[in-house]
Amino acid sequence: MLKTDILIIGSGISGLFFAMKTAKKRPDLSIVIMTKETAKNTNTRLAQGGIAVVTNLFKDSFEQHIKDTLQAGDGHCDETIVKMVIEQAPERLKELIEIGASFDKDEDGQWNLGLEGGHSQNRILHHKDSSGLEIEEKLLKIIKKMPNIEIWENHQVIDLNTETKKGKTTCTGAFYYDKKHNKIKYIRTRTTLLCTGGCGQLFENTTNPKIATGDGIAMAARAGVEIEDMQYIQFHPTALSAGKDNPLFLISEAVRGFGAYIVNEDQKRFLFKYDLRGELATRDIISEAISNEIKYQSKKHVYLDCRHLDQKAFYAHFPVITAHCNSLGIKPERDLIPIVPAAHYQCGGIKVDPNGKTSIENLYAIGECARTGLHGKNRLASNSLLEALVFAHQASEDVNKTIAKFTFSTKLLIPKFPKAHQSNDYYAFDILKKELQTLLTTFYTSSERDAELAFAKIKMLNNSAISLIETHEITIPFIEFSNMLATALLIIKQCKTKEKQTC
Ligand code: SIN
Repeated sequence: MLKTDILIIGSGISGLFFAMKTAKKRPDLSIVIMTKETAKNTNTRLAQGGIAVVTNLFKDSFEQHIKDTLQAGDGHCDETIVKMVIEQAPERLKELIEIGASFDKDEDGQWNLGLEGGHSQNRILHHKDSSGLEIEEKLLKIIKKMPNIEIWENHQVIDLNTETKKGKTTCTGAFYYDKKHNKIKYIRTRTTLLCTGGCGQLFENTTNPKIATGDGIAMAARAGVEIEDMQYIQFHPTALSAGKDNPLFLISEAVRGFGAYIVNEDQKRFLFKYDLRGELATRDIISEAISNEIKYQSKKHVYLDCRHLDQKAFYAHFPVITAHCNSLGIKPERDLIPIVPAAHYQCGGIKVDPNGKTSIENLYAIGECARTGLHGKNRLASNSLLEALVFAHQASEDVNKTIAKFTFSTKLLIPKFPKAHQSNDYYAFDILKKELQTLLTTFYTSSERDAELAFAKIKMLNNSAISLIETHEITIPFIEFSNMLATALLIIKQCKTKEKQTC
């Protein structure tokens, strides 16, 4: 019988940080990290900006960071959570530094703190423009040496298994597809964590990698877990609009913090019409302004103008962005950079308490898939890596205290899935995925009439997919498409009952 004390689904910053902390505290517990591709293929890895932490108490304060977060969240944040996360930030940062994660300093040895939209102070610690990669690599390096952690790559979780006794539901394990051996298997667990990231791939334009298909949300919803605020999808204002890349390459918010302008086809700045902070307004405001300008000028994009900036300093801070632009023949010192808003972050998700616990006793959700109450309607830039660290810590403390209550279930399982199939149906599902992306983007970003039409078409897509879902063999494209469809329907449902984000 396959079993592990703790199963972590996903290998981004939240899962890895939780694993590291828990494994150190509890060498007696076995931990498996399951990931559907390679451990390195995560959204964390693409994070450019950095981590927002109050480090300079002369210029900055927790109160100011709290105020900025609440303002960005537009009245929809949970203030207790905001306070908890921001006040814990320095301790979590210290732990990252202890494992060797490095953040840029000035010549005088002080943190080189970046500025991003919605922040009233420079408070973003960064590793050039590849902060996520730096953290992910340091975490993976240390985790690979820990004897009680195993990383299972190419293992796609299909569904959670739950048992309900005396009105209490617990998660007793997970069914998964072992890609290498082309088999569906089951693993028993005492505690399970969903660290599956977001759902940017549900939209036509996104900065999220192909793996961001809403798997954790769909699985949690099928298990009966409460999902909240899925109507708040954050669009990043500055994704590079060149070619047909999926995902679109992100041009970090930090570039605007560094002084870049956003200009229209006439090379005119236009953001002050929308917000006095101009380029440093929050993402929701800038994305909406850009979308309006694009419509108004009947163009495909607007531009980021970096030509007036100190180019040596720009290159030192943004080597990855500069190299990527150069590879497309765009020279930031000479050319305008075409940009569009793109789906970037899911502010809502699996509803959790301050310890990352879901409505199921021994099931946790941390990282982007969770709705903690930190972000409200619109996440403040560079608060997401921070949230992942803080909630990984909270969950680790809680699991340490509570895991003794949970034993492995011995209930006999009746396999509920058809057999696995080494798929060659990528092409068919790619077409369905593209159709869903187009329809959901229309639903999310268009006028009421077009949105209703798109919704009607998604319902038709769902109806035809239901029979497919019931009879299809288990393949990776099939699992991902089913999860995408389920997550899209949740977004639509929550948009219809609550106010959606605008962009
Ligand atoms: C960015 O660098 O603009 C992305 C950082 C974030 O999503 O907070």
